[in-house]
Formats: sequence, C-alpha cells, structure tokens
Amino acid sequence: MNLVIRPVEVRDARAIHRIHLQEQVMPYILSLPSDRIDQLEERYRKLGNNHHEFVAESDGEVVGHAGLVQMSGRRSHTGMFYIAVDAAHHGCGIGTALLTKILDLADHWLMLERVELGVLVTNLRAKALYERFGFVVEGKKTGAIRSAGRFVDEVLMSRLRPNGLLSDVDRTKDHSAPCDEGAKRVTE
Ligand SMILES: CC(C)(COP(=O)(O)OP(=O)(O)OC[C@H]1O[C@@H](n2cnc3c(N)ncnc32)[C@H](O)[C@@H]1OP(=O)(O)O)[C@@H](O)C(=O)NCCC(=O)NCCS
Repeated sequence: MNLVIRPVEVRDARAIHRIHLQEQVMPYILSLPSDRIDQLEERYRKLGNNHHEFVAESDGEVVGHAGLVQMSGRRSHTGMFYIAVDAAHHGCGIGTALLTKILDLADHWLMLERVELGVLVTNLRAKALYERFGFVVEGKKTGAIRSAGRFVDEVLMSRLRPNGLLSDVDRTKDHSAPCDEGAKRVTE
C-alpha cells in the first residue's frame, strides 16, 4: 500500500462524501443521509485559514480524511480534531497516519497546547486510537448526539502538547473545586 497524506482539495469532496455515508462511519460522525456533494465542495472551497484538513490517499484513492480547527481569541491555543476513514480500510493504520500528521501540525507548527475532540461513548475503536496518542477523557455530555434513532452520550477528550505549557498539570486531580487550582499562568 502506497499511503500519502496531503492537504484536502475541492475535488476530494466526492470521495469524502462517499465515506461519510457508509453505515460503519455515519453513526459516529455528524453527517446526515441527505448530505450532498455540492455542500462539501462549497465547504472546501471556503475553508478558512484556521481550518486544516488532510486526506489519506492509498494507491491514488482517497480513503480517509482528518481535520483540525484552531480556535480563535482566548482559545487560540486549542484546536478541535475530527476524522473519518473508509470502512473498507479500517484497522489498516490509516487513522494512525492521519492522526500522526495532525498532531505534528498541532505540536510543531501551530504549537497548540490542547487538542480536543468529542467521541460517542459507543465508538470503542476511535476511543482506543485516541488513547494510544495520549488523549484522556475529560467529561461526558449526556445524550448530546442523535445517532441511528438514539440519543448517545458524547465523551470529551483532550491531549496536551508534550512538554508544553500545560504538560505539568496534574490531570488526575478534580479541578471543579471553586478556587484557583485549575488556573495556570502562561508565563510560568
Ligand atoms: C476511528 C477510525 C478513524 C480509526 O481509523 P483506522 O484507520 O481504523 O485506525 P487504525 O487502523 O490506525 O487503528 C485502529 C485501532 O483500533 C483498534 N481497534 C479496532 N477495533 C477496535 C474495537 N472494537 N475496540 C477497541 N479497539 C479497536 C485496532 O486494533 C487499532 O489499534 P492498534 O493499531 O493498536 O492495533 C475509523 O475506524 C473510522 O473512521 N470510524 C468511523 C468514523 C469515526 O468513528 N470517526 C471518529 C469520530 S470521533
């Protein structure tokens, strides 16, 4: 398999649309059965500067995509991650390759301190992949997403930049206490 990870192009919309509609993919992402290719093309035509997306091409065929949206203002040190891989290629390392590329961008080029994501509690494969890359669970949103006729809980996960400004925060501690403990000076 010749795997190439490259920036997304408008012409990739058709392949990404096909992946989104697969029955092993759609329940876990925010797509709808009625989503149209022209909507995706329009989205890629207008992708903002803070929106970074790659596709994985295996032997010339687009078999997955992943993106990172850098937040703005006082959240500009954080980014939101998303990913989808062609079901015919699940378990072949495509997700690993895409996530590696995104985290290199986040760590070494954008130098984001936090990468965040939401994953359905039922999505064990994705959760295992994220945990392998150092993401930890931060919370759960009850019934946050409708999926195939059910309200499903969404688990919130994040990964802090290795050796970054937040990397010495003790993530096992409960930071919900009403005091200054959850705060970290950026100048430290
Ligand atoms: C989640 C997803 C992106 C992973 O992509 P992938 O190309 O299959 O990922 P990889 O092959 O690199 O790695 C998958 C890992 O999950 C493991 N895995 C597979 N099935 C699993 C399961 N049921 N439970 C736990 N782990 C599982 C594999 O063993 C592998 O880990 P390993 O490399 O340590 O063996 C892909 O399955 C996908 O697109 N799913 C549908 C859409 C989706 O869920 N998107 C994410 C929304 S948050």
